[in-house]
Amino acid sequence: MNACVEAIYLHATANGMEVWAGQNGFDGLIDDDFVRLTPSNAVGISHKSGCVFGCNRSSRLTTTKAFAQALTNVKKNDFDAVIVLGGNGSLIGSGRFKNAGVKVIFVPSTIDNDVPGYKNALGFSSACESSVKAIDAIRVTMETSQRDHIVQLMGRHCNELALRVGAATFADIIDMEGARVTPTDVAKVFMANRAAGKKSNMLLMQERRGKNNCEERANDAKFLADISKAAGSDNVRMSVLGYLQRGADPSCQDRFLAVSYGKAAVDLIARKQFGTGVSMINDQVHVLNIELAPVP
Ligand code: F6P
Repeated sequence: MNACVEAIYLHATANGMEVWAGQNGFDGLIDDDFVRLTPSNAVGISHKSGCVFGCNRSSRLTTTKAFAQALTNVKKNDFDAVIVLGGNGSLIGSGRFKNAGVKVIFVPSTIDNDVPGYKNALGFSSACESSVKAIDAIRVTMETSQRDHIVQLMGRHCNELALRVGAATFADIIDMEGARVTPTDVAKVFMANRAAGKKSNMLLMQERRGKNNCEERANDAKFLADISKAAGSDNVRMSVLGYLQRGADPSCQDRFLAVSYGKAAVDLIARKQFGTGVSMINDQVHVLNIELAPVP
């Protein structure tokens, strides 16, 4: 995201525009909390992970009052256009802003890469790179101690991370939405591989979303216990990569996408092509229409 912010800033200022960032995403619009981008806060940030201006899943925006406040603040600050970087929730928010007459541009940014109609969301590539590196480190110690292991990735309900990283790391099994496995399935593969001489197996698992983080961790512990029991082994371990994937150093691919999207977003503003989003498809930046979100 930081690389995209820097690209937006540089391209916008080169076109005579001022750029302001909402602090913590939509919360900044609701609370009228903006900071003007300058060379000191918006240049030289492209290598940083996360977002220097903060992000937030602002469920507040779903309330009529908060949404009205956001609209008021966009008008009050006389913003000509709003560029939104985010995932599904941000796309829905962008559609609502479009419906309300705000001149909005959407940039897909989520490690899940699960925004309908948009490919190559910012963050997905970096999450893949960091996951592969982490798995290489986990695997070397698992092989040293001849252990079987489960590595869990994020992805919410989208299995793109699990599929790509699982294939790239030659996982023995991939457990993902649309192709979930049981502890017995896992034990059978682990035991058969060991009978064939393999010293260490890896199950790559897409997180299994629950009510909340605590429930998910409890379910993970039970999944691990059930696999160990079915395999008759206390030599199975689990690593949850979780937030390591979101704080990863931005990959070259992501930084390239970020610059491409940032420039494209500013060009759309210059061309007054609002209510649109950008997505790299077949190595071309495509401009998509933000579907008018259903009025809540
Ligand atoms: O949407 C990105 C993501 O990292 C998902 O992969 C994950 O399930 C979710 O966010 C975690 O959300 P939170 O940070 O609110 O726990």
